[in-house]
Amino acid sequence: MSRIHRKSSELVQAQIAAYTAENVTRPTSALYLYSNIGKLSASEVVDVTDKKRLIASGDDYAAYIKNTHGSNHEPIATRKSLLTNYKGFAPLARKLKGQIEEVSPNEHPDYLGSGKNMHAFLVPNDGGEYVVKIPRGRIPKPDDIDRRIQAAILGKEIPGLERLTAASYVDNIIVAEKMAGRPLGKVPVDSLTNITDKQLEGLISTLQMANNKGMVLDLSAEDLFYDEQKGFGIIDYHPGIGGQQKLKEVYLAAMDTLGGAGLFDPPPQTFGDFTNIQEQLLKRASVLERFRELGKLDELIEDNGAAKISGFYRLRTKNYGDPQWVSREMGRIKKGGKPQPTYLELKEKEYFDPADPFRGMV
Ligand SMILES: Nc1ncnc2c1ncn2[C@@H]1O[C@H](COP(=O)(O)OP(=O)(O)O)[C@@H](O)[C@H]1O
Ligand SMILES: [Mg+2]
Repeated sequence: MSRIHRKSSELVQAQIAAYTAENVTRPTSALYLYSNIGKLSASEVVDVTDKKRLIASGDDYAAYIKNTHGSNHEPIATRKSLLTNYKGFAPLARKLKGQIEEVSPNEHPDYLGSGKNMHAFLVPNDGGEYVVKIPRGRIPKPDDIDRRIQAAILGKEIPGLERLTAASYVDNIIVAEKMAGRPLGKVPVDSLTNITDKQLEGLISTLQMANNKGMVLDLSAEDLFYDEQKGFGIIDYHPGIGGQQKLKEVYLAAMDTLGGAGLFDPPPQTFGDFTNIQEQLLKRASVLERFRELGKLDELIEDNGAAKISGFYRLRTKNYGDPQWVSREMGRIKKGGKPQPTYLELKEKEYFDPADPFRGMV
């Protein structure tokens, strides 16, 4: 007697998503396929048309499955396991989605944080702690969900990157392992002195490997994490097109975050606050100097980029120890003026005089 093995819906969805990511270049066509993945996974292999435009041919898709040997293909296998794992999270994730339609996300007891794209919540499951991420806004963007998955596939072997646990194109959710520690913006000053050379080297190699794979990293104070035991971790990374982000820019962005993250949150108001910032800046400048040395950044980055950044944060410490400067700054902040920008923010505004990069700093 022969038995018919029907492919699971998770496997078929994984195949359609991997096919889409690897073969469908038109963004609107890809979005159409991801958005209809639930329906498409229930039917036989067919041509898919949207408004009379053929966006995926059934034959082409069938050839792709044949050539990749279906679930043996890593991008298919990874997606399949993320979709299958989602079954264990679905009830919790759907409940969360319902709840945040009633109360604003940051009032939810399990709220962790938000970025430009996602709200994140901490949920327990099977004894571990996971982060359920729900995209902001009403319009589902399953193509964004898949981009996170593409990045996770690229970054699978890279230590220090956030690991995905589960995903759903239909519910528009991703689940990740909780990153150890806190985002740099919320790391207490005293922790910074405990940053070891080994941890800085770990960060340097994560940045190198991710850049090698063409990934794009945000490295903002919300996305770069630090834990005294486990070192640095990066969440929120994306697949990029070749050479999009230069390694030099990645290092400088990390340095700027290590130098400036969280310093003005909340904005300083008293002399004591400014003294704290000075103390932080001193510790951070020394972290930057070690980072520069360990990464041999002075050899790697022309125009002294790394030296300029660490010099900038070192020089700033002088301002924060100068009572006259601090009084002026307090007055300015009281009137609603923005706290001091970071090095890269200033650079973007072309504030620096190339001949004197620290003009206005002291
Ligand atoms: N794996 C994680 N561990 C701990 N906190 C997280 C994790 N993922 C997200 N967060 C929190 O949620 C915020 C938003 O998530 P993120 O993936 O950065 O989305 P966005 O694309 O919106 O920036 C983060 O800044 C962080 O505070
Ligand atoms: Mg983020």
